[in-house]
Amino acid sequence: MRTLPFIFLFALMTSALAADPKNGKTLHDKQCVACHVKLIGGDGNKIYTRSPRLINDRKALGQRVTMCSAQTGAKWFPEEEEDVAAYLAQQFYKFK
Ligand code: HEC
Repeated sequence: MRTLPFIFLFALMTSALAADPKNGKTLHDKQCVACHVKLIGGDGNKIYTRSPRLINDRKALGQRVTMCSAQTGAKWFPEEEEDVAAYLAQQFYKFK
């Protein structure tokens, strides 16, 4: 039983450190897709893989997500923006 607090602490630490792309997808599909669909049609996700695309590194992606999320009025926490950036990086941008 004495290990329990440590397990709890560990879970807390990993959830704070590691972005969660699955949560990012949920947030993204709720807040971000509609406007991109209006812009380019289809499922809207081609905006991330178009050529030339705006975003070419992970840092710029984080900044773009922050900018775009400000437009939605969703008032995400920085952690939620990180989750979305992680999802986009993993799913579409695949930075080297
Ligand atoms: C009000 C409309 C609108 C909303 C809502 C919106 N976006 Fe965008 N987004 C744009 C526009 C417009 C562009 C393209 C800008 C350009 O081409 O100069 C863009 C481009 C982007 C790009 C860059 C694509 C590239 O070329 O690499 C990313 C990343 C992005 N949006 C993420 C998001 C995320 C994440 C959200 C949700 C938090 C979101 N957007 C919500 C309008 C929106």
